[in-house]
Amino acid sequence: MTDVLQAPAPQRAPAPWVQRPAGLCYGGDYNPEQWPREVWVEDIALMKEAGINLVSVGIFSWVLLEPREGEYDFEWLDHLLDLLHDAGISVDLGTPTAAPPAWFWKKYPEALPVTREGATLGNGSRGMASPSSPEYRRAATNITEQLARRYASHPALVLWHVHNEYGAPVSESYDDNSVLAFRKWLRARYGTLDALNQAWGTLFWGQKYGEWDEIDAPRVSASVSNQAQRLDFRRFTSHALLQCFIAERDVIRQYTPDLPVTTNFMATNCLSADYWAWSKEVDIVANDHYLVAQRTDNHVLLSMDADLTRSLAGNRPWMLMEHSTGAVNWQGRNIAKRPGELARNSISHLARGADAVMFFQFRASRFGAEKFHSAMLPHAGTGTRIWREVLDLGDDLKKLAAVKGSTVESRVAILWDVESFWAQDLEWRPSSDLDHRERIEAFYTVLWKAGISVDFAHPEADLSGYDLVLAPALYLVGDKAVANLRSYVHNGGNLMVSYFSGIVDVNDTVHAGASPGALRDVLGLEIHEFLPLRHEETITLSNGAAGTVWAEEILPGSATVLSRYLDGPAASGPAITRNTFGAGTAWYVSTKLDGDDLAGVLLDAARGAGIDLGTQPPAGLEVVARNAASGKFTFLINHTDADAEYPAAGLDLLSGETVSGTAHIPAGTVCVVHTPGVTS
Ligand code: GLA
Repeated sequence: MTDVLQAPAPQRAPAPWVQRPAGLCYGGDYNPEQWPREVWVEDIALMKEAGINLVSVGIFSWVLLEPREGEYDFEWLDHLLDLLHDAGISVDLGTPTAAPPAWFWKKYPEALPVTREGATLGNGSRGMASPSSPEYRRAATNITEQLARRYASHPALVLWHVHNEYGAPVSESYDDNSVLAFRKWLRARYGTLDALNQAWGTLFWGQKYGEWDEIDAPRVSASVSNQAQRLDFRRFTSHALLQCFIAERDVIRQYTPDLPVTTNFMATNCLSADYWAWSKEVDIVANDHYLVAQRTDNHVLLSMDADLTRSLAGNRPWMLMEHSTGAVNWQGRNIAKRPGELARNSISHLARGADAVMFFQFRASRFGAEKFHSAMLPHAGTGTRIWREVLDLGDDLKKLAAVKGSTVESRVAILWDVESFWAQDLEWRPSSDLDHRERIEAFYTVLWKAGISVDFAHPEADLSGYDLVLAPALYLVGDKAVANLRSYVHNGGNLMVSYFSGIVDVNDTVHAGASPGALRDVLGLEIHEFLPLRHEETITLSNGAAGTVWAEEILPGSATVLSRYLDGPAASGPAITRNTFGAGTAWYVSTKLDGDDLAGVLLDAARGAGIDLGTQPPAGLEVVARNAASGKFTFLINHTDADAEYPAAGLDLLSGETVSGTAHIPAGTVCVVHTPGVTS
């Protein structure tokens, strides 16, 4: 749903990619303020050795740049930027507004964020202020303006990095300014209290409002809070954070109208921001990604994150702004990356559309909260495997420079709508085992294993270019999305829907009639009762598949039943169906299928949609292509301990060897085969 307070993005020609460096960008966050100046000189020499051509600086430097309110010290940053420029290293200049100085908090304590439980968060860490604090907005735009004015014409500057990871760790804030701003946002959205009362269903539990100032933020209450109110507070929060970004961006644009401005997203890992709206406001989409170390399939999740990022970027090149060379420090068990994993991870992002590979951070910190986080240059220095792999990656990226600007083509899209996740995650749902993330991962994994490229799309987006659209978890579907999905299928599209989708509208109100109200006629069926299963209960389907978590009593209308429940609470009823709607086809899967069972159904739908599955990759071989006028780049990334083979012909850009018919990809390594003249 479009945010009513969101001014339409100004009509602007797409900003150019960073003007320098010429090839792929390589580098990372650089925090030299933690080191004496002689180390800066050493660092820059090492950066050159590694082929680093872009660094992000100043991200947490507010107190150094403005040690007291209104007093500035730029000498150190002048010197640093000059050193970097002299070495031919370009600068992505951070605005330091994710870490306001201690003097700010002392003077403006009302800007401190407040949790839903009512705790005021203290200083002494990082993370932004209440996004609705006028003092914060003023101070943040001021330091941004000081930086923009001073460095507008500095020759090292090629990109602006506003703030750091909006939405983490602070997103919703329940302070007084946020309550006032929320009311203003609601007035703009609804116009009248009657409209708000209706949208929020306030006749339930006698919650009707008679005055605007009776409305509070949905703080912790005696029982479940009004769910539409909570959903709106999440929308409001994403909007308030985005306004903070826009305020800084617009100040910057006054000084450097030709330089791109970005901020770092956390594509699949941040549910605080509606990135579809955010991506319209940044000049270049940039993303941070960290492996979930304990998951052995974390390379698949990485791919999913990269594919979402590319989709947010509208299939234009994007930046991997941060990832890690080895272990992070903030997970339960910070598993180190194994030899070669650094390159596999980096090249997987590249394969999925990134034209920049950046890390957090260049030199490991000796003090502070992140002293156990890996870096490009570890504590143990240049004699380490990690440093050698950093050097090797620098070489590889030079060999892959021709990839720059090429695009990834996908015939399959997965619907991704954070508003739907927000709504589904509220309390009192039919089963605590319902998990949108898990279902999307499951569907995505089937396609990853089959080597089928996937985009992500908002349910209101133009889907006409896709042969198959998947809705593994689309609980909330607004009227515009309903119309869009109907016309997509009606015009010949193929849609596969998983359980607990199409249930409510944008106010978390159940669509009228039998579920799934939003998609009933497209799917050609009615659900008469949800039948969640017990913990670890398994049911059997007539096609031999096993279902868990969920079943339904389904009354098929025009839909053909492909498989029935043999046992469980829906025994003998339909489990998997297919319906013809207009010129298109809609499949429905009413239980949780996994692994081969899910692959069977999903790949059948893909074949039905006319997708040629081609040669199936061996287990653990990642296959993805980028296309350019010069031909096709096939990325073959072997995530296993065994050598692999895959059909390909052309030149392996990394080894320099000709591949004629079959690429051999040794265990744990990568081939990138350029096939001139072929574009899909
Ligand atoms: C985030 C932040 C960085 C750093 C890394 C550590 O991505 O943006 O400043 O804290 O995490 O993994």
